[in-house]
Amino acid sequence: MQNSLYIRHLEILLQRYLVAMSSFKLDAIVIASGKPSYYFEDDNSHPYKPFAAAQQWLPFDLPAGCYIVIQHDKPELIWPAKQDFWHMDNPIPEGEWQAHWHIIPALNDDWLTSLPERVALIGPDPVGPLQHSPTLLTWLNYDRATKTDYEIACLEAASDLAVKGHLAAQSAFLAGASEFDTHLAYLKATTQDACDTPYPNIVAINEHAAVLHYEQKAHHRPFRPLTLLVDAGAQFNGYASDITRTTTALQDDFSALVADMDALQQGIAAQAVAGTPFLELHQKSLIGVAGLLNKHDICSLSVEEQLEKRIPHHFYPHGLGHLLGLQVHDVGGRQTNPQGQIIAPPKSSPFVRLTRHLNDNMVLTIEPGLYFIPMLLEKLRAEQPQHGCNLDKIEQLRPYGGVRIEDNIVVGVEGVRNLTRERFAKYG
Ligand code: GLY
Ligand code: MN
Ligand code: MN
Repeated sequence: MQNSLYIRHLEILLQRYLVAMSSFKLDAIVIASGKPSYYFEDDNSHPYKPFAAAQQWLPFDLPAGCYIVIQHDKPELIWPAKQDFWHMDNPIPEGEWQAHWHIIPALNDDWLTSLPERVALIGPDPVGPLQHSPTLLTWLNYDRATKTDYEIACLEAASDLAVKGHLAAQSAFLAGASEFDTHLAYLKATTQDACDTPYPNIVAINEHAAVLHYEQKAHHRPFRPLTLLVDAGAQFNGYASDITRTTTALQDDFSALVADMDALQQGIAAQAVAGTPFLELHQKSLIGVAGLLNKHDICSLSVEEQLEKRIPHHFYPHGLGHLLGLQVHDVGGRQTNPQGQIIAPPKSSPFVRLTRHLNDNMVLTIEPGLYFIPMLLEKLRAEQPQHGCNLDKIEQLRPYGGVRIEDNIVVGVEGVRNLTRERFAKYG
């Protein structure tokens, strides 16, 4: 990646922080990367993930125990230099980035004494007298929704890896692999360990595809493998991809439904241009799912009748998508301003994580789905006797679990860049 992208990213970030410092009447902001955390009564630690607002500043995986101090034009990086014979050394990564930082190796917290008086901390652990400031973080979260060109390049690299993984997973499944072996094929192709992925891989065969966050990986392949739903990503410099593909073993009614969902997903993704209220797209996806239910003989009611009775919500209970960045469900998706006012999701779709109007260079997922979830189908039958659903057809499709198709896109003024489809076209 070009160093100029990173330099420009630093300039933009610094500008955002200087504006925040002026609004909060601060002379400095300290950002902590965080420390390892431990299992209860155990000396084994959880997999470490740096605090995203700290990771955002640096073009490598940020270790625990770092602090970033913003007070002048050149940011300071306090690097943990403690001696430890149990673990590997933690050398400061080489690179052109160093020219833009004051790097201060530190054995302890003495660096705190040189901070100015008006200073605020953001980060998971207090340091010295400093406590985390939630209002400052909320302020900074708002701008994190808009990605710099460096961040988009990192997200592209994360998509690149994940698409290779998805292709390997599809091949493994079609060649006879179990969920577990499909998961291993994905990890190998993306050169990730399971704890490196941005979220636990969802590798679901058949009915498991109806469990939205299915995290188990069965070692035994079912007798009749019908569907593979893989929702999995990768990371680059802390930035995540979040991609879902549904693969079918047969050409049948369900594969026809998957093909139509694919067309619906692409049609909606293409409309995610700057200025669009995301909730409008979510509503279009519900209309689209109602259309699929009707076309595929799952529900005989018209789209209008289905929406009135909230039928599609029982087959598609989640939101159309969310912001994507250093966090998979990236921050600021419901914020209307830096002060933290929010647009709440509609009562009928409480899980929509993105309610903002889209702007140029937001990166987000578009991920409509349609599932046969026994709990929700029972609820529908109990609460809505005039549901118009074809229960025999649902019973026929239930073993397939469901379908979700998820791409990562960059919002533009004129159009949309689909980072995921670009890469499937290149590698597929
Ligand atoms: N992988 C979690 C999600 O798609 O939101
Ligand atoms: Mn997602
Ligand atoms: Mn996902």
